[in-house]
Amino acid sequence: MNDFESREIDASRPSAARMYHYYLSGEAVFDVDKIFGEHVFRVFPYIDTLAHHNREFLQRAVEFMVAQGVRQFLDIGSGLPTVGNTHDVARAHAADTRVVYVDNDMEAVNRAHDLLLQQGALDHTAVIEADLRCPEVIFDDPQARRLIDFDEPLGLLIIAVWPFVPDSDRPYELMAQLRHRLPAGSYVAMTHGSVEDAGPEFKQGYAGLVDLYRGTSDPAMSRSRDDFATFFDGVELVEPGIVYATDWRPTHPVDTQDPARPCNFAAVGYKP
Ligand SMILES: C[S@@+](CC[C@H](N)C(=O)[O-])C[C@H]1O[C@@H](n2cnc3c(N)ncnc32)[C@H](O)[C@@H]1O
Repeated sequence: MNDFESREIDASRPSAARMYHYYLSGEAVFDVDKIFGEHVFRVFPYIDTLAHHNREFLQRAVEFMVAQGVRQFLDIGSGLPTVGNTHDVARAHAADTRVVYVDNDMEAVNRAHDLLLQQGALDHTAVIEADLRCPEVIFDDPQARRLIDFDEPLGLLIIAVWPFVPDSDRPYELMAQLRHRLPAGSYVAMTHGSVEDAGPEFKQGYAGLVDLYRGTSDPAMSRSRDDFATFFDGVELVEPGIVYATDWRPTHPVDTQDPARPCNFAAVGYKP
């Protein structure tokens, strides 16, 4: 059993999953998301750029892991399905890849399930409703075990999810539990929003963003580079280590003037 209550769909308050979808696609699921999104853009106009940087890192990390031979992925905090989902990216390179999506937001889970059903993808993908704060529930889930062999290396993705797990929920201990369950030879990719390297104006905007998120079902927080590094304790950082998401093995020249660039740390770790 999950210790955390199931998060039913709440059309009266924005959620992280729906807002992230809005920043990426411009599509609002509920009116409240559109209104909230307009506030966010006023306070922090870089939000959509940041979301795209984040998503592009996810895709490059998946391609990297597939190139290392990974054929099974656990994508925790996967969000609403959008263009270039993990299974689309992975299977474009290795058609035998299996992907298990996990989110604690029913809207995200339902929509992902509908999309996977429509795509006829449910033989090699699954989506489960579970909470990152209960790692054992995820690893023991029958759907996860149907698709993932936990004796073989896997790719663990926790992309832009830790900001929604406050220190009081002991995120580093949770990560240690996850790492413990990872088979040797596995990779883990993570990102985390941060104001550490941001300029003063940007920091102010980001503080406004964090304030706004207090009114959603998913209050969010920034962490420092050192805090982010703690999530990688016990794994080896893959080159180039901890960098801005835009700078992790980029496929295009990086725009160093991009104000959103310093706001999202990213890295991939390897469990020997
Ligand atoms: C900003 S979105 C990121 C989506 C996706 N990982 C990506 O980078 O494209 C954050 C997602 O994490 C989910 N989330 C937040 N807290 C979570 C938790 N404790 N357990 C599982 N999912 C969570 C939210 O519901 C949301 O879908």
